[in-house]
Amino acid sequence: MEWHIYEQIQEIIDKAPTFHYTHGAFWNGGYVIIHSLPRRIPAIYGGVLQQFTMQKAYYTIHDVKERLWHSKAVTVLTGAGISAESGVPTFRGKVGLWKNFRPEDLATPEAFKNNPKLVWEWYDSRRQALSRLKPNAGHIAIAEIERRVKEFTLITQNVDGLHHLAGSKNIIELHGNIWRVRCLTCGEVDENRDAPIKILPFCECGGLLRPDVVWFGEMLSDSALTKAFVASDNCDLMFVIGTSGVVHPAASLALRAKDEGAFVVEINIDNTPLSVSADVTLLGKAGDIMPQLL
Ligand SMILES: NC(=O)c1ccc[n+]([C@@H]2O[C@H](COP(=O)([O-])OP(=O)(O)OC[C@H]3O[C@@H](n4cnc5c(N)ncnc54)[C@H](O)[C@@H]3O)[C@@H](O)[C@H]2O)c1
Ligand SMILES: [Zn+2]
Repeated sequence: MEWHIYEQIQEIIDKAPTFHYTHGAFWNGGYVIIHSLPRRIPAIYGGVLQQFTMQKAYYTIHDVKERLWHSKAVTVLTGAGISAESGVPTFRGKVGLWKNFRPEDLATPEAFKNNPKLVWEWYDSRRQALSRLKPNAGHIAIAEIERRVKEFTLITQNVDGLHHLAGSKNIIELHGNIWRVRCLTCGEVDENRDAPIKILPFCECGGLLRPDVVWFGEMLSDSALTKAFVASDNCDLMFVIGTSGVVHPAASLALRAKDEGAFVVEINIDNTPLSVSADVTLLGKAGDIMPQLL
């Protein structure tokens, strides 16, 4: 998408009285169509602004499937939504409070400093719940795509480890992994699948262990981020699955991919702030849609 056209579309969308909601917008060899639900919407056609009605989506799952199997480099970005069908609660869905604490009150370095026992109890309850859950059809389809395409990278914001269990190999975990622990003294990182875990857990060196996840207010790992940028810049197809598109820099990876010429397919049960930039938004559950691409 050329940016001046994109901006023009944004301006039209912003001003249009009849426009309610886009379902992705795509640039298609000389004309722009706003891919939307059946509604009267303004659009640019052959460089001329027109009003017209779209009756149906222009891309089907079949078109996306064709593109997928003709792509050389595929990058998948996932968020909490990919794990929802496994039974992992999303953050922005109906949040189950834990002992009246919000995640924002517990997943911080300050909370851990003030009360490591409380934070570990929360992580332990999440680990115990997760230990009973399995990857779903969405995770499994992503692992299968990796086996079939030449270059593949999975970037996930999830910490639950379900992509590993599904068989994905080339994974960048932007926010860490709840099944790893890190020593505050010597920095050693280890896998630890104990559920329940001994509270408080200590390293062999005597240092206190913390969950190896990125907390609110902490920086993402530079090397993970650099790899994620490279995978976003160099793919020809990007799937953005089950992410609310509000946590950066994860969300900006999709925009980067788009900017560098990738075809961006969003899969979500709802539209998100990313929908307008995606080439296609397939509305539905990841576990229903992803297997249909195989
Ligand atoms: N499983 C996990 O490890 C987990 C769970 C909750 C939160 N988190 C963390 O919280 C942050 C939240 O950001 P986020 O964008 O990943 O999640 P989010 O909770 O903000 O958004 C989840 C998104 O998934 C969509 N969704 C829900 N069910 C879906 C389904 N079945 N199929 C497709 N889409 C579905 C929702 O519409 C929403 O847009 C992340 O940084 C992540 O690290 C991780
Ligand atoms: Zn140590």
